Amino acid sequence: MTQILVTGATGNVGREVVTQLVSAGVPVRAFVRDALTTRLPEGVEIAAGDLSEPETLERALSGITTVFLVWPFLTSEGAPAVLATIAGSARRLVYLSSSGVDDNAERQTDPIYRLHADMESLITASGLEWTILRADTIASNALGWAGQIRQDGVVRGPDIAPTAVVHQADVAAVAARVLTGDGHVGARYVLTGPQVVSRADQVRMIGEAIGRPLRFEKVPVETARERMLADGRPPALVEALLASTRRPRSDLITSTVEEITGRPARTFREWAADHAADFR
Ligand SMILES: NC(=O)c1ccc[n+]([C@@H]2O[C@H](COP(=O)([O-])OP(=O)(O)OC[C@H]3O[C@@H](n4cnc5c(N)ncnc54)[C@H](OP(=O)(O)O)[C@@H]3O)[C@@H](O)[C@H]2O)c1
Repeated sequence: MTQILVTGATGNVGREVVTQLVSAGVPVRAFVRDALTTRLPEGVEIAAGDLSEPETLERALSGITTVFLVWPFLTSEGAPAVLATIAGSARRLVYLSSSGVDDNAERQTDPIYRLHADMESLITASGLEWTILRADTIASNALGWAGQIRQDGVVRGPDIAPTAVVHQADVAAVAARVLTGDGHVGARYVLTGPQVVSRADQVRMIGEAIGRPLRFEKVPVETARERMLADGRPPALVEALLASTRRPRSDLITSTVEEITGRPARTFREWAADHAADFR
């Protein structure tokens, strides 16, 4: 079996991709920024580098034919060089995109959706054999509430319209199948969870998982902006995050996770049970 290069390997989704590939006996090389402190499952080869320095990626690609790509930036500016580097060595690319990409929109207004639309255009023109995974909101975003939950049991933040939040393990399970199986070249898979949930629902379900009543308290966008800027977050990131408050509710639920992995997509309640320890 050929070795797979996983980028974003220390992140919520990438770490799961690594873990699931290793469990399936697939050789993995993880592309990480901090090789000294990174802890990944035994047997994973570590390649140090940074996606903003394509020459570091070139070294990591030696002998690799298949790449899992996570794009951690707010613009696609550096992507042509990264994709050319990948195409110079590998053949297959699986990209983690967003379910918000609209094939009918000329130019998407939401900065994160626009980023992924731009990335997809570059990838489909790259000459690589691509597969695109368009994930809905990923459940692990809720880990960002852990501090507030532990402190006073109230999650305060801007509200985002309900969507079918997807467990990162399900995104990773699809990625693992697509990275190692045939028949997925040129496919765009939209991955959702099985239920549409609001932020208030998510907070309540985490409370049920840890046996404490919790609640979500909506904060006006202006207040959220001031707090995020005061925390030192870059203005472009703050605006991209706040743009998600203008997204409409999405009732889209797909069966793609089950079709590809053979098991139904996990509910947010299951995610909360899996992560109860993170909130206690
Ligand atoms: N969150 C959602 O709801 C959602 C929905 C749809 C799609 N997505 C896409 O999914 C991606 C992954 O999500 P996630 O939750 O797994 O993200 P995450 O936990 O924030 O992980 C990001 C990963 O990217 C790495 N990284 C950051 N900057 C890098 C750089 N300059 N060079 C190389 N690696 C770098 C990080 O490594 P370090 O440990 O070194 O920081 C980390 O491993 C997102 O970036 C987004 O594009 C997210």
